[in-house]
Amino acid sequence: MPHIVLILPTSTYRATDFVEAAERLGVEITVASEDRPPLAGAAGTPHVLIDCKSPETSAATIVEHADRHSIDAIVAADDQGVEIAALAAARLGLPHNPPIGVAATRNKAMLRRALARAEVPQPAFGVVNTAEDAVATVADLGAPAVLKPLGLSASQGVIRVDDAEEAFAAAERIRRILIMEGHSPGEPILVERFMPGIEVAVEGLLFDGKLEVLAVFDKPDPLDGPFFEETILITPSRLHPEMIDEVVRVTERGVGALELREGPIHAELRVDGSRVILLEVAARSIGGLCGRSLRFGLLGSSLETLILRRALGMPVAGLRREGPASGAMMLPIPRSGIFRSVQGREAALAVPGVTELEISMHPGDVIRTLPEGNRYLGFLFAKGPTPQDAEASLRAAHAKLEFVID
Ligand SMILES: Nc1ncnc2c1ncn2[C@@H]1O[C@H](COP(=O)(O)OP(=O)(O)OP(=O)(O)O)[C@@H](O)[C@H]1O
Ligand SMILES: [Mg+2]
Repeated sequence: MPHIVLILPTSTYRATDFVEAAERLGVEITVASEDRPPLAGAAGTPHVLIDCKSPETSAATIVEHADRHSIDAIVAADDQGVEIAALAAARLGLPHNPPIGVAATRNKAMLRRALARAEVPQPAFGVVNTAEDAVATVADLGAPAVLKPLGLSASQGVIRVDDAEEAFAAAERIRRILIMEGHSPGEPILVERFMPGIEVAVEGLLFDGKLEVLAVFDKPDPLDGPFFEETILITPSRLHPEMIDEVVRVTERGVGALELREGPIHAELRVDGSRVILLEVAARSIGGLCGRSLRFGLLGSSLETLILRRALGMPVAGLRREGPASGAMMLPIPRSGIFRSVQGREAALAVPGVTELEISMHPGDVIRTLPEGNRYLGFLFAKGPTPQDAEASLRAAHAKLEFVID
């Protein structure tokens, strides 16, 4: 039986989906996580303790485990584990991405520099250490601009400013968020030009350096700031096919700049008229539970199944997404407070086209709006004959939900 190490950071939404995919494939799993397996069903699963903040040490732990049990692949469910997976797989001679390229996907300044060296279209940027420098850099680059921390995700700490003066307060606010998240307050901040346009996301799987596009998503809600709460993702994209080709080409250039070769990638791009620029490329699949909007091949395989099959060198036949349009909605957080309950679940699920609703908060959880927050209330899924139908179903279902927040 093939054996994989599955890296599951504490904050992962995806333990169940990966474990289920592994079980269905008849694959033996060792869970690598920061405490006991973050999943009731995985109790009794072999386990190694890692620390996602120490990729080198954690990779050594996995290599040690591999000395005692033969391991066929190492898969990271989320961003926090991708460096560990690359380092450990490199040491074990398993197919992997170059650790340096993967590290660049985890640090927005490294990413911008690597993309700049390869002349991949991206926002003009600067990296600053003080609020005063942030002001000067915005004055240099020109407003509007976006300020962001280098190593957070889910748009946490990402702030648009409309003039240089606003950059001071934004930088200070990011500094407070860094402290709250246990980062060093002296950590640099990225300042970049605000790129107008439509945002799209590309979901792909790399086969020995070749990008197979699994889906291109539109993000139909405007993401103009000052904070960037992601909500709806719909595939297939409604962009003109020629623009989609350009989106894929720019994604390929980004992947090439980092020399990524294996496993899933997730890229975010902006399309402004005929211009396509790369915001980000990550060496992981789509975040949260959004991957549940994707099903592939005749068997309706999950995204996680494809990722595990590829990692194990099993044939991956049906890369074609199923027929209907499909969408996911990351449920926006209406206000900060203590989450109590959700009303209207049945009514939301009864909306035609809606396929699933998962609330990821528990009663009593503290929830925060952006830019301080970084968790989603939950995820809603819908399918329809056209992207418009899937989007309309998500909006109609969301309107039925009422969140009780103290
Ligand atoms: N330079 C920019 N111009 C326009 N919009 C931007 C820019 N940078 C970031 N954004 C917006 O903010 C969102 C989050 O930014 P970014 O992807 O850099 O941070 P993140 O925390 O990694 O987000 P996520 O984890 O959701 O991908 C982007 O998806 C985009 O909508
Ligand atoms: Mg991003």
